[in-house]
Amino acid sequence: MVNMNEKYRAIVEKIKTEIPFEPEICIVLGSGLGDFAEKVETVKSFPTSSLPGYPKSTVEGHQGYLHFAKYNGKKLLIVQGRIHFYEGYKLSECVIPIHLAAKLNCKTIILTNAAGGINSNFKPGDLMLIASFNGMAVKKELTDVLGLTTIDKRNDFIDFPSSEINEKIKTAAIEEEISIREGVYWFTKGPSYETKAEIKMMQRFGGDAVGMSTFHEAVYASYLRMKVGAISCITNFAAGLSPTKLSHAEVMETAEKVKSDFERLVKKIIDLV
Ligand code: HPA
Repeated sequence: MVNMNEKYRAIVEKIKTEIPFEPEICIVLGSGLGDFAEKVETVKSFPTSSLPGYPKSTVEGHQGYLHFAKYNGKKLLIVQGRIHFYEGYKLSECVIPIHLAAKLNCKTIILTNAAGGINSNFKPGDLMLIASFNGMAVKKELTDVLGLTTIDKRNDFIDFPSSEINEKIKTAAIEEEISIREGVYWFTKGPSYETKAEIKMMQRFGGDAVGMSTFHEAVYASYLRMKVGAISCITNFAAGLSPTKLSHAEVMETAEKVKSDFERLVKKIIDLV
């Protein structure tokens, strides 16, 4: 078990002395969605390389910055540069941005990601509110690494993600006239995309979208008593559901196309939270 408070005290202390304000809402930007950081008023940015012990993001489309920003009077922490399990990092390292957000007293966190569409009604470019997760692939690691042994006893998964935030995401979509799907995000460890048989199984077991992030961040944020909301940008048909070969380039290309709807949606969510 990792003592997160002890292990990451240096980063927390350093950032606490330099931040312009305590953020209320943390927004984690997914693959190809990093531009959102430029659409709000940035007050101070930290390259994550300036933070002691902060892992380097090695994925294209993930710049390593923490931005303290404002939008319509709301104080934000924007995480641009997610840390993925498939990059070889431990789960305890992947959740460092979440740990920081909690230590800086963020009350709400909105996690975003790029995901493959499993649901046969979904197409690339759709946005999906994550109603629930399948995180069986790392349940044990989460327990072991983070020592979250009490989580089941506290029944934390009953309001997870937060029903209050989910309602606000739906309202934001209606107000902005953006159509939003709803479904189950299935976490896979990666690093490779799935096989056709894996996708078929996920489909049969109720998966709507598949991706390699977010689940552990959401669990850890909820454990630290933040209200969690999460949105997937469906960037591609999951493996075997289209004749074309899956690639990170396709993921980035679709994210680019959906960017303006995504920005409007997240801004409206910020207004409503
Ligand atoms: N599978 C896993 N992760 C992903 C995908 C996918 O199809 N698309 C974007 N991230």
